[in-house]
Amino acid sequence: MKLPALLKLNDGRWVENGEDWRVRRQEILDILRREEYGYSPEAPERVKGTVRAVDKKCCSGHARLESIDISFAAEKGEVSFPIKLFIPENGKKNPLFLLLNFRPDAYDMYFPAEEILDNGFALAVVYYQDITSDNGDFTDKLAGMYRRKYDGTDWGKISMWAWGASRVLDYLLTRSEVDSENVAVIGHSRLGKTALWCAAQDERFRFAFSNDSGCAGAALERIKHENAETIESITRVLPYWFCENYHRYAKNVESMPFDQHFLLGAIAPRFLCVGSASLDAWADPYSEQLCCCEASQAWEVNGHMGFVGPKESAHIGDSFHEGNIGYHLRDGIHFLGRTDWLQYMAFMKKKINKK
Ligand code: GCU
Repeated sequence: MKLPALLKLNDGRWVENGEDWRVRRQEILDILRREEYGYSPEAPERVKGTVRAVDKKCCSGHARLESIDISFAAEKGEVSFPIKLFIPENGKKNPLFLLLNFRPDAYDMYFPAEEILDNGFALAVVYYQDITSDNGDFTDKLAGMYRRKYDGTDWGKISMWAWGASRVLDYLLTRSEVDSENVAVIGHSRLGKTALWCAAQDERFRFAFSNDSGCAGAALERIKHENAETIESITRVLPYWFCENYHRYAKNVESMPFDQHFLLGAIAPRFLCVGSASLDAWADPYSEQLCCCEASQAWEVNGHMGFVGPKESAHIGDSFHEGNIGYHLRDGIHFLGRTDWLQYMAFMKKKINKK
């Protein structure tokens, strides 16, 4: 299967070094913005965080939990949405996971809060629909406060959630308890797609974690296995996640000037870890693994190792953390669970002190 060339510049030259890569990365972002997710507006000048409530004794008293409203001036008014911030009570600067979550609860089945904190991480959680709703309503919250189109394309909801996460980061970087050099964005499924797109664009995230993100996330569109989701299906059922141009490829995948290794590649040379679940055919674990293989070139041309692992399908329980792209295949269904978190925490700890 021939995929579009990740390292071929628009002028036909090949990327040979880190400097060329920086040019190519911008071209790749342009392609993905124009063809898949849509362009986003400029960042606001100032993002404010207002602490609404503090629980000083959460996670066995090892941490503090703050409920914070993030707000900023948008084109048509003010945008404001809540986040939760868990901070270890250790007086240090802590590496942080920013989790895009499916539900608004402070404690939730998608993250083992206490275990994450006890491992020395801070954790910020944003409920994605507090940024804007997960439907075709483009008047809701953030969506309603901006134009529909930038640079000629409409931005889809994935772009909006990703851009919202970058606004959360704007605020988090003002906090003295956060190690600004070691911030990760993480999400599961549609929010795994969102985390990837967020990190691809926003280089302030040194780490990106994609859990079961599948179609339009970490899985290649041109390589699909049995019962995997396709562009034809995702654009029919969830059209508002993407920009209009993406729909042209529903029945025409071969004509796409990109594939999802462009999305992973745009994170290079930073750290990326992809997790799949063995029973999650819809997200297509093996296609996700192959996408890691294909994206590796972007790391190699920068003098780093990308995915260090086999081309053959991983076995259940396999985990590859050698290179700057990690990958694991966990037993079980489509879910972001403790087993995945243990992998992501181990990956981050291993890489944190690397140059
Ligand atoms: C649907 C969708 C997937 C998505 C998933 C989820 O199944 O088709 O692309 O990843 O929802 O977000 O849970």
